[in-house]
Amino acid sequence: MKVPLVDLSANYLSIKGEIDDAVQEVISTSSFIMGPHVEEFDRRWARYCGARFALGVANGTEAVRLAVKACGITDGDEVITVANTFIATTEAIGDNGARPVFVDIHEDSYVMDTEQIARSVTDNTRAIVCVHLYGHPCDMDPIMSLADEKGLMVIEDCAQAHGARYKGRMVGTIGHVGCHSMFPAKILGAFGDAGAVVTDDETIADRVAKYRNHGRVSKYESVVEGCNARLDALQARILIAKLPHLDGWIDARRRLAARYSEHLEDLVRIPTERSFARHPYYMYVIRHERRDDLRDFLADRGISCGIHYPIPLHLQEAYASLGYGSGDLPATELAAKEILSIPLYPELTQEQQDHVIESIAAFTTREVRG
Ligand SMILES: Cc1ncc(COP(=O)(O)O)c(C=O)c1O
Repeated sequence: MKVPLVDLSANYLSIKGEIDDAVQEVISTSSFIMGPHVEEFDRRWARYCGARFALGVANGTEAVRLAVKACGITDGDEVITVANTFIATTEAIGDNGARPVFVDIHEDSYVMDTEQIARSVTDNTRAIVCVHLYGHPCDMDPIMSLADEKGLMVIEDCAQAHGARYKGRMVGTIGHVGCHSMFPAKILGAFGDAGAVVTDDETIADRVAKYRNHGRVSKYESVVEGCNARLDALQARILIAKLPHLDGWIDARRRLAARYSEHLEDLVRIPTERSFARHPYYMYVIRHERRDDLRDFLADRGISCGIHYPIPLHLQEAYASLGYGSGDLPATELAAKEILSIPLYPELTQEQQDHVIESIAAFTTREVRG
């Protein structure tokens, strides 16, 4: 039996009629760039997230980059973040001329260890980019109190955390600005690149609205230098069609995650959901000391897994100039050696899930027998 890590085709087939109609509508109205579909998406995404403003953008990388820029981060500034994330998080900082400063992670939930942030604040620190990795929210209260105390901006990278809640509040609306990726495999994925910025702050919203479309306020009138980071109208319309299904998909992910946890807790280290969190399980990440052997064993049984992420950013060649080395972020580095993302998506069948569970059990029993 084949079990992919994600199955985009199964997701499409589950709502094929709605998607096909949405695509047809955009094509027949020829409204491809900005216009009513993007405006409608912005309204609906703001409402879903409980934010005053949402701005659809070209992808999640642009969402974080424009959010960091709209927060006024610039040359020579320092921005505190984590090294176990996709490189887009730190590109957004570097592209604005600032320097990422890495803190280690909370060992069980894999997100920023809030106790370490205060120690990393210097006179040059201007912001914190917290990443709700795999969908697990960061512990936002201590982050926000420190930010208030030190006058820092807080940017939430919610690329993996659609619908995640912290103490009942939707992530992305707790800091000054939140950023989403709608890359196809994400919890709410487009059929190509897409992303969004959400905020309650009118100035930030106004800046992102201008940056995403060449700084324009009318067709040939630009008030700031922006770029082309517009959300494609076809993707906006597809996301509108998918949005009513999002909560159901998150419930399905949570049910599958609970079933995995029930069957795997004695076999491998399972993910934690801290008491403040409602975790949408973008990824279900287990841990094992012989992770690579386990991954190969599962691959031989037709099960595809992922590693998110195998090389922490502070050890990437791209960031050699920052001067970090092995041993600087012990919890991050150990996790990178042991984590394994196993298949989880709303359409995963019980048969497929049983195959994953039985295969992990077969690996661990074989190990015990030696
Ligand atoms: C944590 C994180 N931030 C940012 C991004 C960038 O999103 P995109 O691929 O849509 O540019 C991703 C995408 O994988 C991500 O996982």
